[in-house]
Amino acid sequence: MNENKNIDQEKQFPWNDGVKQEEYSIKNQIEELLLMAGNEDKEGMKRLLKHMENIGFYEMPCSGGNHLAKTGGLAEHSLNVTRYALSLLNAWYEEPYISQWTDSVIVCGLLHDLGKCGQFQKPGYVPNIVKDGRPTKADPVQKYKQSESKPFKVNPDLLNVPHEIRSVTIINEYIALTEEEYHAILYHNGLYGPLYREINGKETALYMILHFADMWCSRIVEEGDDNAECDIN
Ligand SMILES: [Fe+2]
Ligand SMILES: [Fe+2]
Repeated sequence: MNENKNIDQEKQFPWNDGVKQEEYSIKNQIEELLLMAGNEDKEGMKRLLKHMENIGFYEMPCSGGNHLAKTGGLAEHSLNVTRYALSLLNAWYEEPYISQWTDSVIVCGLLHDLGKCGQFQKPGYVPNIVKDGRPTKADPVQKYKQSESKPFKVNPDLLNVPHEIRSVTIINEYIALTEEEYHAILYHNGLYGPLYREINGKETALYMILHFADMWCSRIVEEGDDNAECDIN
């Protein structure tokens, strides 16, 4: 009885990956939220979701050695930021503004770091392989392993383009961001990002909600190692 109910529920969600599961995966939640928020251009959003899968959004780490430096960290972080950003929206606004801005907050929260997936068919992060001990007379071959303190590194094959710029570029190939969404994602690192000289005095409500939620998640919720080299959010 219960099993049939589960199968019926899955049928209601065409974006479900079809894998029978006891709880909604992070991927399911992200896809459901984005299809809901992007319902004005569902086809564009579906193509973006497919592209996210292709460029490894659900496997990518969120940083090299700081917050959520693990497989799947980027998707987890994106969902965290969205949750906290929605909390801020609900704490600081009343209706009708909450309803008006919910879709934008979801789009910004879930997609602000899409550029961390890389670009031009090159992943944003690759495993950080380091020397494992020294060769000895008995075993003269140098061994290598994935670093434990910094398991990933920014892909050295990519030219240096800030991830916030990659994010808006990739997203706009599939869906049309509003001007406010574009601005919020572009500046989401605030004074910690490369565009810090441009944002002072030009802040918007959406930008601040995204920036604060992103900072809160990367610095508090996801508990980065303070001693690690700090990747930007
Ligand atoms: Fe970021
Ligand atoms: Fe982020």
